Amino acid sequence: MTEVKNPPRHVAIIMDGNGRWAQKKGLPRSMGHKKGAEAVKKIVEAAGEAGVKFLTLYAFSTENWNRPEDEVKTLMDLLRQYLKSQLRELQEKGVRILFIGERDMLDKDIIQAMNSLEKETADNDKITLCIALSYGSRQEIVSAAKKIAALAKRGDIAPEDIDIKMFSDMLYTSTIPDPDLLIRTSGEQRISNYLLWQIAYAELAFTNVLWPDFGKEEFNEILQNYSLRERRYGKV
Ligand code: FPP
Repeated sequence: MTEVKNPPRHVAIIMDGNGRWAQKKGLPRSMGHKKGAEAVKKIVEAAGEAGVKFLTLYAFSTENWNRPEDEVKTLMDLLRQYLKSQLRELQEKGVRILFIGERDMLDKDIIQAMNSLEKETADNDKITLCIALSYGSRQEIVSAAKKIAALAKRGDIAPEDIDIKMFSDMLYTSTIPDPDLLIRTSGEQRISNYLLWQIAYAELAFTNVLWPDFGKEEFNEILQNYSLRERRYGKV
């Protein structure tokens, strides 16, 4: 068990590189995703041990719906399996689970599994695992703007009442703090429509390790590095 001094309260991760991992080994992409799902378990555990209180994972983006049908099916089946088999383990480890994203796009049984996991784990307080599923940050921001416009149209608020706090409260992430650290695996250095509003002051960390190979050691090394950084939030 690794102790990290001043761990980030909230870590967000873009789990990238499953496909390349499989390709490098001459395996089908689906195997990369399967290995990727195993890496998820290890990292949730490592985060809890390090004292991270919120972990947000990008499991499926709104853009991922455009992947070939069989790949979308593989990912949905993996998620289905994960959601339906994890309850006991999550309970034992004190994990509270939350989902962000456009739920309506998902299959009914998946939505049901999500709702019941959220309900059953609501009182756990070791760590909150937030899974971004069918998530797109621009879509999230537009939907927040629509909610605010509707309130203004009804006369419930005046345009001058709109501030950062109100806007944040209209996002899927209204109940959790902003990420302190965003990690992306696999060597790509972009944000890909992930938590655009929420990462305003997050520290960014990019690693060349592909997601299925990303383990506790790599994770803890990034946390150690983070703890040495000085965050100034625009001040001197
Ligand atoms: C990116 O790799 C990864 C994804 C699109 C999906 C992430 C999903 C998992 C890790 C598995 C299930 C998740 C949970 C929470 C159980 P990529 O396919 O874009 O890889 P590539 O860029 O190398 O092609």
